[in-house]
Amino acid sequence: MSKILTTESGAPVADNQNSASAGEYGPLLIQDQQLLEKLARFNRERIPERVVHARGSGAYGYFEVTDEVSQFTRANFLAEVGRRTEVFLRFSTVAGNLGSSDAVRDPRGFALKFYTAEGNYDLVGNNTPVFFIKDPIKFPDFIHSQKRDPFTGVQEADNVWDFWAHSPASTHQITWLFGDRGIPASYRHMNGYGSHTYQWVNEAGEAFWVKYHFKTNQGIRSLDGDQSAEVLGSDADSHQRDLHQAIERGVFPSWTLYVQLMPVAEAADYRFNPFDLTKVWPHADYPLQKVGRLVLNKNPENVFADVEQSAFSPNNFVPGIGPSPDKMLQGRLFAYADAQRYRLGVNHTLLAVNAPKATEANNYGRDGLSAVNKSGRGKNYEPNSYDGPAQTDNALAAPVALNGWTGTYTTPAHTKDDDFFQAGELYRLMSAGEKTRLINNIAGFLAQVTRDDIVEKNLAHFHAADEEYGARLEAAVAKLRAGDEG
Ligand code: HEM
Repeated sequence: MSKILTTESGAPVADNQNSASAGEYGPLLIQDQQLLEKLARFNRERIPERVVHARGSGAYGYFEVTDEVSQFTRANFLAEVGRRTEVFLRFSTVAGNLGSSDAVRDPRGFALKFYTAEGNYDLVGNNTPVFFIKDPIKFPDFIHSQKRDPFTGVQEADNVWDFWAHSPASTHQITWLFGDRGIPASYRHMNGYGSHTYQWVNEAGEAFWVKYHFKTNQGIRSLDGDQSAEVLGSDADSHQRDLHQAIERGVFPSWTLYVQLMPVAEAADYRFNPFDLTKVWPHADYPLQKVGRLVLNKNPENVFADVEQSAFSPNNFVPGIGPSPDKMLQGRLFAYADAQRYRLGVNHTLLAVNAPKATEANNYGRDGLSAVNKSGRGKNYEPNSYDGPAQTDNALAAPVALNGWTGTYTTPAHTKDDDFFQAGELYRLMSAGEKTRLINNIAGFLAQVTRDDIVEKNLAHFHAADEEYGARLEAAVAKLRAGDEG
């Protein structure tokens, strides 16, 4: 027999089909608690969407260590082959709103929460190994330029390319985004990257710089512009549908985790700034080393509760893993938890998807919106004489040596540190067909820009990356723009 329907306070509901009225045809009664509660609750069902990465899908699963890496990090969840850790992964697009379509040309988010025995470790990455900018102070301007214009209410090619015209370091990521991998066919068929450089530190206190690569075991599958238009026209939720249905069918998507490791001493003399998020480390310099397997095997029971309310912060580290001096990462260490205190409230870490699962959180935070009593009668100050939770005196990561003067620096002091050479290398690696598709994809968008100076500044970046790349693009844009005028 099914349970009795109740109000939020647990009282039985007599009628959930008809509102209480004054007489059969009369106006409604304010004493109808069920009606008032239902309407009031409904009015509050939406919360602010994420300011970026609003549209997403998520699933639970596990990470299993397959290769020994304890010589590089003392992170407990990576300590031995065979160790499994529960995870939650949220995929996303970046620029669209919550209700936007999946199959668009846009980077994809790849945000992973490891529920480790030493606390939750969040690795908040993308499906691209690099990013558009290298200073967090530019992030709000960058995002404004990509989202809807405040006056016209639509995304403007002029704004998108105007920002890039002033941001030469974006040339590498633009080359990636307009290339063959720019529109993943689904979340299952793309790689994930930590993108930033992070720090690993082992038991002996020896530190390494590390980059994470999750390679899809489903194989890379992408859409071209025509295929994407077709999917967009018929199924706005293509990625969500694909991920959900695959997991329900028992076809569990998986990724193999590799890392690149750089001994700390090599960073200072490396030929470019190893903390520059617009650059990759060539595999010839730092080969991929296998770490483990990530498997997604469980759909959330309630998408809102787990996917919409999930909160990832690049500042959630565990012992043995820490940040690097990457300026972008440093900015992100602040931005996420701050956004979540606004979006979800100060107690969002108590929500099931965000709370530790393999250990418990013990601290002196108590109050704030939606608090629950997680600490019993314990004291709410520290230090105390009542055997309350105490600090460990063990730093999570290793200290980083620094020197120099405070200031606002534009370019890190490294030789050969230009914004274009890796974009050129990526272009030259492409097959003839891929180069042509890249040129057509970029030209199709750049040709929509109405101002000559913005077009010219952008073309100069592609010329600087590779002369052929720039020349072909210039010709393609000129042809399209001439066609528009004719
Ligand atoms: C989401 C800020 C760069 C990946 C977000 C959110 C903010 C933010 C405020 C929403 C958080 C929330 O409401 O829960 C920034 C800033 C950046 C930056 C200030 C640069 C300084 C990046 C980069 C990556 C990235 C470089 C990838 C390498 C993500 C992902 C999400 C996200 C995957 C969605 C997380 C989720 O699924 O909940 N970002 N971001 N962001 N960001 Fe960034």
